[in-house]
Amino acid sequence: MKAIAIDEYGPADLLTVRELPDPPVGPDVVLVQVRAAGVNPVDWKVREGYLAGAFPSHFPLVPGWDAAGVVAAVGPAVTGFAVGDEVVGYVRRDHIQYGTYAELVPAPERTLAAKPVQVSWAEAAGLPLAGLTAYQALQLGRAGAGDTVLVHGASGGVGHLAVQIARALGADRSSAPPARTTTTSSVPSVPSRSRTGTACWTGCASSRRTGWTWRSTCSAATPWTCRPSCSPGRPA
Ligand SMILES: NC(=O)c1ccc[n+]([C@@H]2O[C@H](COP(=O)([O-])OP(=O)(O)OC[C@H]3O[C@@H](n4cnc5c(N)ncnc54)[C@H](OP(=O)(O)O)[C@@H]3O)[C@@H](O)[C@H]2O)c1
Repeated sequence: MKAIAIDEYGPADLLTVRELPDPPVGPDVVLVQVRAAGVNPVDWKVREGYLAGAFPSHFPLVPGWDAAGVVAAVGPAVTGFAVGDEVVGYVRRDHIQYGTYAELVPAPERTLAAKPVQVSWAEAAGLPLAGLTAYQALQLGRAGAGDTVLVHGASGGVGHLAVQIARALGADRSSAPPARTTTTSSVPSVPSRSRTGTACWTGCASSRRTGWTWRSTCSAATPWTCRPSCSPGRPA
């Protein structure tokens, strides 16, 4: 198969397009013929080796955790998918090696869902990680009917989905802080409402810049440890 891979951790110019052996299909694995792969901030952190302490990695390493595609083969223990199904997945495995920047990705069955019919391949591949992040933050913030939800970075990958999911959860207002271009009115097809908010999530860097204090142990080296526990006010 053709894939984009690295042979060692480092900068973006280590990524090369190459031929690699087709990945193995384990018992609970669905082999997906990738139509589109999503690109997320975590991909460059993997590439640089910042997650090496948390995830065992193997080279050549194909980055990428998001994909949409068609099922090409299934392992003998797979029950929920069949060859030809259109799927979308957050294909994060315990070991990092067979990522989604490839023609074929071996996805554990638990990482996949049916692709929504109304979205394109590229739109579907952009949904999993950013969408799950937004949804998880709103769940942890207990956003629900009648709530007002503040979304930092509402023009970004996570933020624009958070605005829409908040609306789907019943929040009747969503807003963005007065920083940069991040207003809900700049996000296409999202109703433009404005009020102060009660929950937020964009990640450490943005929240520091916009003056919201994270009550968490996050750091530049371990950004995945951030928790959506924040409150208005300048960082100390
Ligand atoms: N994508 C994921 O699946 C995922 C998962 C977990 C955590 N995260 C974290 O969540 C954060 C956002 O990720 P993303 O994928 O949504 O990134 P993104 O698509 O690049 O969006 C970044 C957002 O932050 C805003 N922003 C950038 N610099 C800013 C500044 N100086 N002041 C105010 N706003 C600023 C951008 O506004 P402009 O439009 O004006 O540039 C944009 O709305 C990152 O810290 C990322 O590591 C992302």
